[in-house]
Amino acid sequence: MMERTSEGLVIWLTGLSGAGKTTLAVRLAEWLSARGLPVERLDGDILRGRFPDTGFTRRERDEHIRRVGFMASLLEKHGVAVVCSFISPYRQARREVREMCRRFIEIYIRASVEACEARDVKGLYARARAGQIANFTGLDDPYEPPENPELIVDTDRQDVDESLATITAYLERLL
Ligand code: ADX
Repeated sequence: MMERTSEGLVIWLTGLSGAGKTTLAVRLAEWLSARGLPVERLDGDILRGRFPDTGFTRRERDEHIRRVGFMASLLEKHGVAVVCSFISPYRQARREVREMCRRFIEIYIRASVEACEARDVKGLYARARAGQIANFTGLDDPYEPPENPELIVDTDRQDVDESLATITAYLERLL
């Protein structure tokens, strides 16, 4: 096992709902823990569960991302490996978070809307199609793909183990 580094880092998973961000974040957090790093996970559904007034307008999403980015930067400062999983659809907000953090690794969890909709793990695409959810990312709300992410993981074409291996291979070189 490698030595524990005192440097923290922020690993930011961005992508559509259903692309696999949370699944990979959980697996990645386990992997980082097994390497002896202090780990914290910040996740869209968990944060929103705690702060249920957070809406989905651009303004609300941006504020939410700024808030969690700030939390991540505080944890990072204390040597924590922070794994963040948020749709975070807007480039500008992701850029702001990058600027708040010291070591920021943006990973684009890439899957087509069609693939996410076909999986529809939470049944939200169906509800959005039925008009029960407005401003749904990928359908009637935008997603701006990262232009220069540290890493892209294609979950359309890879299973969870392969995607995790892509991420850990990248991190091995860094940690
Ligand atoms: S973000 O856009 O503000 O970064 P975040 O990752 O926190 O989003 O939360 C997204 C989760 O909220 C989705 O995985 C889904 O479970 C739920 N959700 C509810 N309404 C929407 C919507 N209109 N657009 C996207 N996700 C939604």
